[in-house]
Amino acid sequence: MKYSLAPMEGITGYVYRNVHHSFFPESMSSYYTPFLNANQTLTFTNKEKRDVSPENNAALKAAGVNVIPQILTRRVEEFVWAVKELTMMGYGEVNLNLGCPAPTVVNKGKGAGFLKDPDDLDEFLNAVFEALHNVNVRISLKTRIGMYAVDEMDELMKVYNRYPVSELIIHPRVRQDFYRNHADLDAFGRAFAESHMPVVYNGDVTTPENADVLMKRFPELQAMMIGRGLVGNPALVREITGGKPLTQTEFKAFLQGLWDAYEENMESDMNVICKMKELWIYMGTMYEESERYVRKIQKAQTKSEYKSSVLNLMGACRFKTEMHVTETGM
Ligand SMILES: Cc1cc2nc3c(=O)[nH]c(=O)nc-3n(C[C@H](O)[C@H](O)[C@H](O)COP(=O)(O)O)c2cc1C
Repeated sequence: MKYSLAPMEGITGYVYRNVHHSFFPESMSSYYTPFLNANQTLTFTNKEKRDVSPENNAALKAAGVNVIPQILTRRVEEFVWAVKELTMMGYGEVNLNLGCPAPTVVNKGKGAGFLKDPDDLDEFLNAVFEALHNVNVRISLKTRIGMYAVDEMDELMKVYNRYPVSELIIHPRVRQDFYRNHADLDAFGRAFAESHMPVVYNGDVTTPENADVLMKRFPELQAMMIGRGLVGNPALVREITGGKPLTQTEFKAFLQGLWDAYEENMESDMNVICKMKELWIYMGTMYEESERYVRKIQKAQTKSEYKSSVLNLMGACRFKTEMHVTETGM
């Protein structure tokens, strides 16, 4: 089984990827960047450029870990431009986002919004693969199973199966679910069975137990992408693969590593605090009954408030070293 870190806008940027890899070097085969918004100006923003710049990803590359940039667009020329740019920087794979549920994205027919127009998607992929046929790059897709209803996936699979897609990452929710409800394993199973290309499972893997349920149910599955569960427990893949559970000492060192790396890369403490607060939305799950304390962390406005609210949480809540019971019903 190969494991990858899901793209998460605002979270899985190069600082997080590098720190995660330095603390848990054995666990991941790939890290996906949050989406880069290819647009009509055919330029990346400075933040996007920093995220994919070869020097900011050199340590991962040197360790043989794939960094896979993800693009959000529905226009052929923008996607082809972005893929060529990224190929020139040395990337061997580029991923297309077909899952973002945000209204501002979906209303423009991008992300999950592209899924409601399978004919347009077909034309898009046809033109993209034709334009890139002599470019040495793999194109993978990250898709939800539909915009409104799971049965849309049948038509989408017919479209995907027409193209030399290197990997199909399936997050088995429809757009209307956003992140509510549960990943639909029946729908995933149907799409997996139909797929002509390698499939990666994504959605709601938060414990070694529910990863195990998934592997038992789909013994042919060879790759899993994990987002929130891994940001919550950075050693999750180590645990899934039989390694030791995260200790609080390791977790504290990881937190310090993140703080130091963000501090080096950001202009103010407040920016660092904002980053750490976003992570705590997920990392709070490492502590029992931590909700109240995580809310306090979310209110911190200064470095000392942040540090004292984290210490309060650590003093008051028990660190979960035991494997936790599945909550997703998998
Ligand atoms: C805060 C946040 C940001 C996300 N950003 C992206 C993104 O940039 N690109 C993308 O394809 N998916 C994005 N996702 C979706 C995740 O990659 C993943 O598909 C989803 O969280 C389900 O997997 P999980 O249950 O393992 O987290 C985001 C999800 C969250 C919660």
